[in-house]
Amino acid sequence: MEKPMLEVCDLIKQYRQSDTVIHAVNRATFRVEDGEFVAIMGTSGSGKSTLLHLCAGLLSPNSGLIRIRGNDITKMSADKLARFRGQYVGFIFQKHNLIPQLTALENITLPAMMMKKPDYSYEHSLKKLTETLKIRDRLHHLPDALSGGQQQRVAIARALINRPQILFADEPTGNLDRKNADEVMELLLQMRQEMGQTLLMVTHDAALAARADRILYMEDGVLSPRPFL
Ligand SMILES: Nc1ncnc2c1ncn2[C@@H]1O[C@H](COP(=O)(O)OP(=O)(O)OP(=O)(O)O)[C@@H](O)[C@H]1O
Ligand SMILES: [Mg+2]
Repeated sequence: MEKPMLEVCDLIKQYRQSDTVIHAVNRATFRVEDGEFVAIMGTSGSGKSTLLHLCAGLLSPNSGLIRIRGNDITKMSADKLARFRGQYVGFIFQKHNLIPQLTALENITLPAMMMKKPDYSYEHSLKKLTETLKIRDRLHHLPDALSGGQQQRVAIARALINRPQILFADEPTGNLDRKNADEVMELLLQMRQEMGQTLLMVTHDAALAARADRILYMEDGVLSPRPFL
Protein backbone atom coordinates (compact mmCIF):
# COMPACT_ATOMS: atom_id res chain seq x y z
CA MET A 1 0.00 0.00 0.00
CA GLU A 2 1.39 3.39 -0.95
CA LYS A 3 1.41 6.08 1.70
CA PRO A 4 -1.39 8.72 1.49
CA MET A 5 -0.78 11.51 -0.99
CA LEU A 6 -0.99 14.32 1.58
CA GLU A 7 -1.41 14.28 5.34
CA VAL A 8 -1.53 17.46 7.37
CA CYS A 9 -1.70 17.40 11.15
CA ASP A 10 -2.13 20.25 13.62
CA LEU A 11 -0.57 22.74 11.25
CA ILE A 12 0.02 26.23 12.61
CA LYS A 13 1.31 29.30 10.81
CA GLN A 14 1.42 32.69 12.46
CA TYR A 15 2.57 35.98 11.02
CA ARG A 16 3.88 38.62 13.36
CA GLN A 17 3.25 42.25 12.58
CA SER A 18 4.76 44.59 15.19
CA ASP A 19 2.88 43.54 18.35
CA THR A 20 0.00 41.66 16.74
CA VAL A 21 0.00 37.99 15.76
CA ILE A 22 -2.08 36.79 12.83
CA HIS A 23 -3.17 33.16 13.08
CA ALA A 24 -3.16 32.54 9.35
CA VAL A 25 -3.46 28.75 9.72
CA ASN A 26 -4.76 27.50 13.04
CA ARG A 27 -4.39 23.77 13.73
CA ALA A 28 -5.33 22.52 10.28
CA THR A 29 -5.69 18.74 10.05
CA PHE A 30 -6.75 16.95 6.88
CA ARG A 31 -5.80 14.28 4.40
CA VAL A 32 -5.97 14.04 0.63
CA GLU A 33 -6.10 10.64 -1.06
CA ASP A 34 -4.48 9.59 -4.29
CA GLY A 35 -6.14 11.09 -7.35
CA GLU A 36 -8.58 13.24 -5.39
CA PHE A 37 -9.59 16.73 -6.47
CA VAL A 38 -10.15 18.82 -3.34
CA ALA A 39 -11.36 22.42 -3.49
CA ILE A 40 -10.65 24.96 -0.75
CA MET A 41 -13.07 27.84 -0.31
CA GLY A 42 -13.20 30.72 2.14
CA THR A 43 -13.36 34.48 2.44
CA SER A 44 -10.46 36.73 1.56
CA GLY A 45 -7.76 36.65 4.24
CA SER A 46 -8.99 33.36 5.74
CA GLY A 47 -5.59 31.70 5.17
CA LYS A 48 -6.11 29.68 1.98
CA SER A 49 -2.95 30.78 0.17
CA THR A 50 -0.90 30.35 3.33
CA LEU A 51 -2.21 26.80 3.72
CA LEU A 52 -1.44 25.93 0.10
CA HIS A 53 2.07 27.40 0.26
CA LEU A 54 2.77 25.43 3.44
CA CYS A 55 1.54 22.15 1.93
CA ALA A 56 3.72 22.68 -1.15
CA GLY A 57 6.81 23.44 0.94
CA LEU A 58 7.02 27.06 -0.22
CA LEU A 59 6.61 28.35 3.32
CA SER A 60 7.52 26.78 6.65
CA PRO A 61 5.02 26.38 9.49
CA ASN A 62 5.45 27.28 13.16
CA SER A 63 4.48 23.73 14.02
CA GLY A 64 2.67 20.70 12.70
CA LEU A 65 3.22 17.89 10.24
CA ILE A 66 2.99 17.87 6.46
CA ARG A 67 3.57 14.50 4.82
CA ILE A 68 3.60 13.97 1.09
CA ARG A 69 3.61 10.24 0.35
CA GLY A 70 4.83 9.71 3.90
CA ASN A 71 7.73 12.18 3.65
CA ASP A 72 7.57 14.93 6.27
CA ILE A 73 8.51 18.02 4.29
CA THR A 74 8.79 20.19 7.41
CA LYS A 75 11.86 18.18 8.49
CA MET A 76 13.77 18.46 5.20
CA SER A 77 16.83 20.63 4.59
CA ALA A 78 16.34 23.39 2.00
CA ASP A 79 18.29 21.34 -0.55
CA LYS A 80 16.40 18.16 -0.02
CA LEU A 81 13.07 20.01 -0.05
CA ALA A 82 13.90 21.69 -3.36
CA ARG A 83 14.68 18.30 -4.90
CA PHE A 84 11.60 16.73 -3.37
CA ARG A 85 9.38 19.52 -4.69
CA GLY A 86 10.85 19.11 -8.16
CA GLN A 87 10.01 15.44 -8.04
CA TYR A 88 6.54 15.42 -6.47
CA VAL A 89 4.94 18.85 -6.50
CA GLY A 90 3.50 21.26 -9.07
CA PHE A 91 2.26 24.73 -8.12
CA ILE A 92 0.12 27.17 -10.09
CA PHE A 93 0.06 30.66 -8.61
CA GLN A 94 -2.79 33.14 -8.84
CA LYS A 95 -0.51 35.45 -10.78
CA HIS A 96 1.50 33.28 -13.11
CA ASN A 97 4.94 34.01 -11.48
CA LEU A 98 6.77 33.39 -14.76
CA ILE A 99 10.36 34.60 -15.01
CA PRO A 100 10.16 37.73 -17.20
CA GLN A 101 13.62 37.33 -18.77
CA LEU A 102 12.95 33.78 -19.99
CA THR A 103 10.82 32.78 -22.98
CA ALA A 104 7.66 30.74 -22.51
CA LEU A 105 9.57 27.61 -23.54
CA GLU A 106 12.42 28.29 -21.12
CA ASN A 107 9.94 28.94 -18.32
CA ILE A 108 8.14 25.66 -19.01
CA THR A 109 11.27 23.52 -19.24
CA LEU A 110 13.14 25.11 -16.31
CA PRO A 111 11.81 22.60 -13.72
CA ALA A 112 12.79 19.74 -16.03
CA MET A 113 16.33 21.14 -16.46
CA MET A 114 16.76 21.66 -12.73
CA MET A 115 15.33 18.32 -11.78
CA LYS A 116 16.47 15.56 -14.05
CA LYS A 117 14.09 12.77 -13.16
CA PRO A 118 15.63 9.36 -13.73
CA ASP A 119 14.11 7.45 -16.64
CA TYR A 120 12.04 10.43 -17.68
CA SER A 121 12.41 12.61 -20.71
CA TYR A 122 10.19 15.66 -20.72
CA GLU A 123 9.96 16.08 -24.51
CA HIS A 124 6.82 14.00 -24.88
CA SER A 125 5.06 15.87 -22.05
CA LEU A 126 6.21 19.18 -23.52
CA LYS A 127 4.64 18.39 -26.88
CA LYS A 128 1.39 17.19 -25.35
CA LEU A 129 1.11 20.09 -22.88
CA THR A 130 1.86 22.81 -25.39
CA GLU A 131 -0.54 21.30 -27.93
CA THR A 132 -3.40 20.82 -25.50
CA LEU A 133 -2.86 24.23 -23.93
CA LYS A 134 -2.62 25.81 -27.41
CA ILE A 135 0.64 27.66 -26.81
CA ARG A 136 2.89 25.99 -29.39
CA ASP A 137 3.17 29.13 -31.51
CA ARG A 138 3.90 31.34 -28.48
CA LEU A 139 6.84 29.39 -27.06
CA HIS A 140 9.60 31.77 -28.15
CA HIS A 141 7.97 34.88 -26.73
CA LEU A 142 8.71 36.48 -23.38
CA PRO A 143 5.85 36.41 -20.83
CA ASP A 144 5.21 40.15 -21.36
CA ALA A 145 4.33 39.47 -24.99
CA LEU A 146 1.61 36.98 -24.01
CA SER A 147 -1.99 37.62 -23.03
CA GLY A 148 -3.08 36.91 -19.45
CA GLY A 149 -4.73 33.65 -20.50
CA GLN A 150 -1.62 32.55 -22.41
CA GLN A 151 0.63 33.40 -19.46
CA GLN A 152 -1.52 31.27 -17.19
CA ARG A 153 -1.47 28.39 -19.67
CA VAL A 154 2.35 28.60 -19.76
CA ALA A 155 2.32 28.50 -15.95
CA ILE A 156 0.14 25.37 -16.06
CA ALA A 157 2.55 23.70 -18.48
CA ARG A 158 5.46 24.61 -16.19
CA ALA A 159 3.65 23.12 -13.19
CA LEU A 160 2.97 19.87 -15.06
CA ILE A 161 6.20 19.38 -17.03
CA ASN A 162 7.79 17.09 -14.42
CA ARG A 163 4.56 15.06 -14.09
CA PRO A 164 4.18 15.86 -10.38
CA GLN A 165 2.05 13.52 -8.29
CA ILE A 166 0.32 16.41 -6.57
CA LEU A 167 -0.71 19.72 -8.06
CA PHE A 168 -1.52 22.80 -6.00
CA ALA A 169 -3.43 25.63 -7.67
CA ASP A 170 -4.14 28.94 -5.94
CA GLU A 171 -7.10 30.54 -7.73
CA PRO A 172 -5.37 29.74 -11.01
CA THR A 173 -7.91 31.62 -13.12
CA GLY A 174 -8.74 34.39 -10.64
CA ASN A 175 -7.08 37.04 -12.79
CA LEU A 176 -8.78 36.14 -16.05
CA ASP A 177 -12.10 37.24 -17.53
CA ARG A 178 -14.92 34.70 -17.41
CA LYS A 179 -14.49 33.30 -20.91
CA ASN A 180 -10.73 32.90 -20.59
CA ALA A 181 -11.04 31.57 -17.05
CA ASP A 182 -13.51 28.88 -18.16
CA GLU A 183 -11.31 27.83 -21.06
CA VAL A 184 -8.10 27.67 -19.00
CA MET A 185 -9.89 25.79 -16.21
CA GLU A 186 -11.26 23.19 -18.64
CA LEU A 187 -7.74 22.66 -20.00
CA LEU A 188 -6.29 22.36 -16.51
CA LEU A 189 -8.90 19.80 -15.46
CA GLN A 190 -8.48 17.89 -18.72
CA MET A 191 -4.68 17.72 -18.37
CA ARG A 192 -4.99 16.68 -14.77
CA GLN A 193 -7.48 13.95 -15.66
CA GLU A 194 -5.18 12.59 -18.35
CA MET A 195 -2.09 12.67 -16.12
CA GLY A 196 -3.97 11.40 -13.05
CA GLN A 197 -2.73 14.06 -10.65
CA THR A 198 -4.06 14.71 -7.19
CA LEU A 199 -5.29 18.31 -7.14
CA LEU A 200 -5.74 20.76 -4.28
CA MET A 201 -7.25 24.00 -5.58
CA VAL A 202 -8.24 27.25 -3.93
CA THR A 203 -11.22 28.79 -5.68
CA HIS A 204 -13.94 31.38 -5.12
CA ASP A 205 -16.06 29.78 -7.81
CA ALA A 206 -18.83 27.66 -6.26
CA ALA A 207 -19.70 26.00 -9.60
CA LEU A 208 -16.09 24.90 -10.00
CA ALA A 209 -15.80 23.73 -6.39
CA ALA A 210 -18.92 21.63 -6.95
CA ARG A 211 -16.96 19.63 -9.54
CA ALA A 212 -14.35 18.66 -6.93
CA ASP A 213 -14.59 15.35 -5.07
CA ARG A 214 -14.70 17.28 -1.83
CA ILE A 215 -14.69 20.85 -0.55
CA LEU A 216 -12.83 22.13 2.51
CA TYR A 217 -13.84 25.46 3.98
CA MET A 218 -11.59 28.00 5.66
CA GLU A 219 -12.46 30.83 8.03
CA ASP A 220 -10.00 32.79 10.19
CA GLY A 221 -7.31 30.16 9.74
CA VAL A 222 -9.58 27.26 10.72
CA LEU A 223 -10.23 24.49 8.21
CA SER A 224 -13.51 22.57 8.23
CA PRO A 225 -15.23 19.93 6.08
CA ARG A 226 -18.48 21.86 6.52
CA PRO A 227 -19.30 25.45 5.50
CA PHE A 228 -19.12 28.07 8.24
CA LEU A 229 -22.50 29.70 8.98
N1 LIG B 1 3.77 37.58 4.59
C1 LIG B 1 2.79 37.94 5.43
N2 LIG B 1 3.05 38.71 6.51
C2 LIG B 1 2.08 39.05 7.39
N3 LIG B 1 0.79 38.69 7.25
C3 LIG B 1 0.46 37.92 6.19
C4 LIG B 1 1.43 37.52 5.22
N4 LIG B 1 0.81 36.76 4.28
C5 LIG B 1 -0.49 36.70 4.65
N5 LIG B 1 -0.71 37.40 5.79
C6 LIG B 1 -1.99 37.52 6.51
O1 LIG B 1 -2.44 36.21 6.83
C7 LIG B 1 -3.85 36.07 6.66
C8 LIG B 1 -4.13 35.00 5.63
O2 LIG B 1 -3.64 35.42 4.35
P1 LIG B 1 -3.79 34.53 3.04
O3 LIG B 1 -3.12 35.25 1.94
O4 LIG B 1 -3.34 33.15 3.34
O5 LIG B 1 -5.38 34.53 2.83
P2 LIG B 1 -6.27 34.05 1.59
O6 LIG B 1 -7.38 33.23 2.15
O7 LIG B 1 -5.40 33.42 0.56
O8 LIG B 1 -6.88 35.41 1.03
P3 LIG B 1 -7.30 35.81 -0.52
O9 LIG B 1 -8.60 35.07 -0.78
O10 LIG B 1 -7.48 37.28 -0.45
O11 LIG B 1 -6.19 35.38 -1.42
C9 LIG B 1 -4.33 37.47 6.22
O12 LIG B 1 -4.76 38.14 7.38
C10 LIG B 1 -3.09 38.12 5.66
O13 LIG B 1 -3.15 39.52 5.81
MG1 LIG C 1 -4.94 33.89 -1.44
